[in-house]
Amino acid sequence: METVLTTHFANEQYRHADTYLQFGGYEALRKALAGPRERIVDEVKKANLRGRGGAGFPAGVKWGFLPKDLSRPRVLVINADEGEPGTFKDRQIMGKAPHLLLEGIAIASYAMSIHLSYIYIRGEFIREARIVEEAVAEAYARGFFGKNILGSGFDLEVSVHRGAGAYICGEETSLINSLEGKRGWPRIKPPFPASVGAFGLPTIVNNVETIADVPWIVTHGGEKFAALGVEKNGGTRLIGVSGPVNRPGVYELPAGVLLREIIYTHAGGLKDGRQLKAVIPGGSSTPVLRPDEIDVTYDIESMAKIGTMAGSGGVIVIPEGTCMVRALHVLMNFYAHESCGQCTPCREGTGWLSKIVGRIENGQGREGDLELVLDVCDNMMGRTICPLADAAVMPAQSFLWKFRDEFEYHIKVQKCPFGNKF
Ligand SMILES: Cc1cc2nc3c(=O)[nH]c(=O)nc-3n(C[C@H](O)[C@H](O)[C@H](O)COP(=O)(O)O)c2cc1C
Repeated sequence: METVLTTHFANEQYRHADTYLQFGGYEALRKALAGPRERIVDEVKKANLRGRGGAGFPAGVKWGFLPKDLSRPRVLVINADEGEPGTFKDRQIMGKAPHLLLEGIAIASYAMSIHLSYIYIRGEFIREARIVEEAVAEAYARGFFGKNILGSGFDLEVSVHRGAGAYICGEETSLINSLEGKRGWPRIKPPFPASVGAFGLPTIVNNVETIADVPWIVTHGGEKFAALGVEKNGGTRLIGVSGPVNRPGVYELPAGVLLREIIYTHAGGLKDGRQLKAVIPGGSSTPVLRPDEIDVTYDIESMAKIGTMAGSGGVIVIPEGTCMVRALHVLMNFYAHESCGQCTPCREGTGWLSKIVGRIENGQGREGDLELVLDVCDNMMGRTICPLADAAVMPAQSFLWKFRDEFEYHIKVQKCPFGNKF
């Protein structure tokens, strides 16, 4: 199977520039710098490269939103915050192949006439931040960053900025505020970052994996990348599988792989012959699926058709015997804790969801609580500055729609059918 990102992951030395260079590293940058900027943007468009941070926005289209006027400097910000529960793939890229990301940054910056780039990295990623910082220093020392890169006349400064581990700071406008030293609160859009972003400058925010795909696209061409995936969703994806499976981990697979195959073939199925009860397919905020819904290809469009998302590529496997009320309570606690508090529907709504689901779980659920949960959800969805509220609502609604009997049992019998003690 063709791989774009993980080809040399097993080689411990690959994170160092010398080894990366031995395997053809930075040749794509050389090739890119020798040609016109527009050609790179065209190839990225042809590649059908969709953002890997969650929303799946086409990267080439986003790059095209930058103003034509070059008089104001523009900024490329790499979103390395990776806060979505169940997602752990950007961390692998940064820890095992940081130069793929750095080469992608140099190429993308050249394509967009950008001379300043930040890598905003999650506070907890101490090891990865160190590796990326070392790789940035190597890239400067070898002339891939800095002034007059490879004699092309193109200049680029790259800086690593460490966050403090707040989920909200993965949202692009919040990330920009945090980068500016302000409170990590999302901004109202418009203006979109492409016109007014970091430090008031036109800014493109892209996920680590999105940008790490760029060198391969330049080397092999956009069409070849597109052909690895399905229509409208090119390339491979790094998919993290967690839960009680035989081989949890990150797998690089074509975008058109079946969700069933991800779980049963690549991750080796559930441990000890356990049965599958549910799957959260694309990170904790994506609507849950039942076992009869996993014969779906893992591309953005197919997942949307069945009412869920491939999101940030985090497949969370839930085995038979799990109390879905408790599982939802854990998720709701997370969102209540991570809401930044700026918008009332999210600040209050996530708190209420965690409280109501919590009391149902603890055998103190009241008649009407399920309607109340759904009503709270309706008053949150689409009513806030950023989609963190939606991210809490999607699991809440889908858990209730698909596993309602378990919630009703908790309320009526005041007991957990799976023997969890209150
Ligand atoms: C609450 C919240 C958290 C997010 N966290 C991340 C994150 O950790 N990493 C990421 O790449 N995108 C995250 N996003 C999506 C970003 O806002 C943005 O869409 C993404 O970085 C764009 O990059 P892409 O187009 O390459 O996917 C988050 C969005 C929301 C609403």
